[in-house]
Amino acid sequence: MRRVTLTQYLIEQQRQYGKVSPELRLLIEVIARACKAISHTVSKGPLAGIGDAVGLDNVQGEAQKKLDVIANEVLVEANEWGGQLAAMVSEEMAEPYQIPNRYPKGEFLLLYDPLDGSSNLDVNISVGTIFSVLRCPTNCSDFDYKAFLQPGARQVAAGFAVYGSATILVLTVGNGVVGFTLDREMGSFVLTDERIVIPDDTQEFAINASNARNWHPPVKRYIDECLAGKSGPRDKDFNMRWVASMVADVYRILCRGGVFLYPKDAKHKEGRLRLMYEANPMAFIVEQAGGAATDGRQRILDLQPTALHQRVGVVLGSKNEVERVTRYHAEG
Ligand code: AHG
Ligand code: MN
Ligand code: MN
Repeated sequence: MRRVTLTQYLIEQQRQYGKVSPELRLLIEVIARACKAISHTVSKGPLAGIGDAVGLDNVQGEAQKKLDVIANEVLVEANEWGGQLAAMVSEEMAEPYQIPNRYPKGEFLLLYDPLDGSSNLDVNISVGTIFSVLRCPTNCSDFDYKAFLQPGARQVAAGFAVYGSATILVLTVGNGVVGFTLDREMGSFVLTDERIVIPDDTQEFAINASNARNWHPPVKRYIDECLAGKSGPRDKDFNMRWVASMVADVYRILCRGGVFLYPKDAKHKEGRLRLMYEANPMAFIVEQAGGAATDGRQRILDLQPTALHQRVGVVLGSKNEVERVTRYHAEG
């Protein structure tokens, strides 16, 4: 069997579809290399003190873990010198990171969540890295943070790594979704899923049920109907999963379908997840895999961002379920 590496995949995307310029390829390869380094550290577990707190809060007011900080540094150091980027935005940095003057600047903007699901670090449950790539809309050398405030529909690439029992990299360059598995002996990402497609229907939902008392009526209606199972209006039983690492929940949905909800509610008035480096890249991937993603009312990829770290309600996954939740919101 022919083994296709990430590099080969990207070169073929350029040859066949003109989708991946050499600069974009280099950027994705560097991100993938950083993910390998993070994967290596995560796999050391308590030996690397990965679940330890650093005693500081990030811009979201959340306690930073040691590995949140390390993963952020790995991504900055890997990406700042190569000449592909004008600036980066990270969950763990309040302000955009501008490429230092000693390095050349490039045409792309990188946004990322260096460590997603970090509350799972100290309990040996999968965590991951999420990234989104935009093109600098104007002159990149005269950089302004507003350059980042583009709707997700303009992403040129998005992906995530899951550091689970295997390390998997999921990627879209706007031509479907593919999955690579890290071959640790060879040190390369090998194509293991050449066309990820989310089934339109599902009997599995993912939501943090501890927020139930705060849910708005359309969400409560949807979940109540799922829970009613065969004897309810849906006429089928549902199963529930919640890993509390979005990367793991979304990967499961890419593999076998499902619907993931982290909606706005009475407590999370703007939502819980971040638009620019969690919801947008995941929405791009899910749509490219044939699924759908809304904030309950609107397509996530159409939302005009107003702030780098803004939060958003998220409903994504199997198309028919996402459409149903969105319809329930429209019906009030
Ligand atoms: P992060 O670790 O980057 O802050 O993200 C955690 C996110 C997401 O991965 C997950 O779906 C959700 O927060 C879990 O939220 P709860 O703690 O409310 O379950
Ligand atoms: Mn996250
Ligand atoms: Mn994070």
